Amino acid sequence: MQNKRLGNSDMFLSPLGIGAWAIGGAGWAFSWSSQDDRDSVKAIHAALDAGMNWIDTAAVYGLGHSEVVVAQALKDYSGRKPFVFTKCGRNWTSDRVITKDLRAASIRQECEDSLKRLQVETIDLYQIHWPEPDESVEEGWSALAELQKEGKVRWIGVSNFNVQQLKRAQAIAQVTSLQPPYSLVRPEVETEVLPHVLQNQIGVLAYSPMGSGLLTGAMTRERVTNLPQDDWRVRNPQFQEPLLSRNLKIADKLSEIGARHNRTAAEVALAWVLHQPAITAAIVGIRTPEQVAGVRGALEFRLSDSEFAEIEGFRHAG
Ligand SMILES: NC(=O)c1ccc[n+]([C@@H]2O[C@H](COP(=O)([O-])OP(=O)(O)OC[C@H]3O[C@@H](n4cnc5c(N)ncnc54)[C@H](OP(=O)(O)O)[C@@H]3O)[C@@H](O)[C@H]2O)c1
Repeated sequence: MQNKRLGNSDMFLSPLGIGAWAIGGAGWAFSWSSQDDRDSVKAIHAALDAGMNWIDTAAVYGLGHSEVVVAQALKDYSGRKPFVFTKCGRNWTSDRVITKDLRAASIRQECEDSLKRLQVETIDLYQIHWPEPDESVEEGWSALAELQKEGKVRWIGVSNFNVQQLKRAQAIAQVTSLQPPYSLVRPEVETEVLPHVLQNQIGVLAYSPMGSGLLTGAMTRERVTNLPQDDWRVRNPQFQEPLLSRNLKIADKLSEIGARHNRTAAEVALAWVLHQPAITAAIVGIRTPEQVAGVRGALEFRLSDSEFAEIEGFRHAG
């Protein structure tokens, strides 16, 4: 396994990190339906045992619950502790309505709340979750730079920023990392964003690298039809026609390539993401130890040039 340095930081990351969105559980607008916290803790332990050395969460995941579960899992873990990354800029009201706020005072309060929930003295990477509202990007990013100077957070990054927004942030303080969506179903950042970050020593944590489950080989049309109503995926166009048929065809192709190596479609999907030189590492959403078993091979597995070309040919023909 080859660990890679994240941007200008001192952190060398395993190719896969633990994504903690789904383990936020049910009862909020972007839930993945119900999730047993005991499974989440076991999944995190299995991923750490497999060699993943970082975890990505956010205050808004489960409206604080994901950070609480992460803290629980790390408290109960006797092995080496991972780097802990979280995000800010999304708040919620007492009736669980999500709000967007990048004002300095709000971010300071959010940081204190995350430190408490995570039970850590410093956050290894603090990220602006979304550049919203756009006019507050400078104020929000300056607040993160202050928190870094004060030692509340060690490194600072952004998520879902375009090139213009990255440039505006870079004019204030070095952006250590960008967290964009990147997968075979959402490759858009390849055109402008990835060339820009490569030139500017900005690390990249690719999110939803398996298309939020679409490219694992475990997603079928029937399963999509039967997703619970409180799973955010029922409202997502990638899980609806015309994209659904295209996406399931890509997953079949990945299963076919994986079968040659005794690898899962998920592992091939992850290897495709990691083949891109601008990507530092991929954030993998896992909900059970069994799912960790189905992705951990991608810590080592790499596509040959001919297999990469085979996937590219298939994708562009489709
Ligand atoms: N910054 C942002 O705006 C943003 C946005 C999205 C995600 N993220 C980050 O990126 C992480 C990963 O993204 P993601 O969770 O959307 O997508 P993903 O990693 O592409 O897919 C994760 C989902 O795939 C399924 N899965 C995982 N392993 C599997 C296996 N071995 N076999 C079959 N199914 C498997 C699970 O869902 P089911 O079992 O329910 O199918 C799991 O929740 C998140 O946890 C979060 O940390 C950030």
